[in-house]
Amino acid sequence: MPLYDVIGKEYDTSRKADSEITRRLMNHFQVFEDSRILDVACGTGNYTIALSKLGLNITGTDISEEMLSKARNKSNIVTWDQADVLHLSYQDGEFSGATCILAIHHFKDLLKAFEQVHRVLSQGRFVIFTSSPEQMERYWLKEYFPQAMMDSCYQMPKVSDVVDNLKKVGFKIVGIETFLIQPTLSDFFLYSGKYDPSMYLNPKVRTGISTFASSASQEEIDAGCTRLKADIENGQIQEVLDRYSSELGDYTFVVAEKR
Ligand SMILES: C[S@@+](CC[C@H](N)C(=O)[O-])C[C@H]1O[C@@H](n2cnc3c(N)ncnc32)[C@H](O)[C@@H]1O
Repeated sequence: MPLYDVIGKEYDTSRKADSEITRRLMNHFQVFEDSRILDVACGTGNYTIALSKLGLNITGTDISEEMLSKARNKSNIVTWDQADVLHLSYQDGEFSGATCILAIHHFKDLLKAFEQVHRVLSQGRFVIFTSSPEQMERYWLKEYFPQAMMDSCYQMPKVSDVVDNLKKVGFKIVGIETFLIQPTLSDFFLYSGKYDPSMYLNPKVRTGISTFASSASQEEIDAGCTRLKADIENGQIQEVLDRYSSELGDYTFVVAEKR
């Protein structure tokens, strides 16, 4: 069964659109209300719906029927289409913008995925939200779940590769902006618990994060959570957090444009 047909069952327990990420996406699109935007790998549609509420005419597409079934139950205003990003069935130039949130690392062929997004845009921006392996190297989670973090880092495309592939298919790079986790973040993805380590002790939160749901072995999760719980209780966690502090930012927006 595809990974997200499994993760999808509990995804919305811990995953919600974060208002700051939504605001920044909207800002990066630089489009008028009613513009047709594509959300690639939209999952259960949390950001698709949040963007639709801001006035965009948005379509969500995802490979996982399980994720999409959750999305369909939440909104019948958004159009939902099941597809692999490598084989989008839209006409050339149908959209005036596109986004892809926390998903490019799942694509088997980044160049072909970006070719498809470029093809379906008339002109406009493609806004990617992701993390880089360099940023992930500095996540304190490495201290407790080293193998799972190494596997996740390995899977993550470097920003330089993302940029190269975007340029190869014809995009211009408009900007690269880092994103810092805020303590109030409401979408519990991999590093959302940067300032709230006890978040990772909650199995429901781990279920919505692919690093824990697929990369990590149960032995590593159990051992890591036992150590993490002890460090939280004895205060040692602060030393770990300080040791991993980083100036690279936690996540990255890559903003590309088809002119
Ligand atoms: C971490 S989820 C992110 C979902 C959503 N963008 C969000 O931020 O809530 C990653 C999504 O990528 C989708 N995905 C993985 N490979 C894909 C592919 N080749 N084509 C389309 N979607 C894909 C998964 O089904 C999953 O819904």
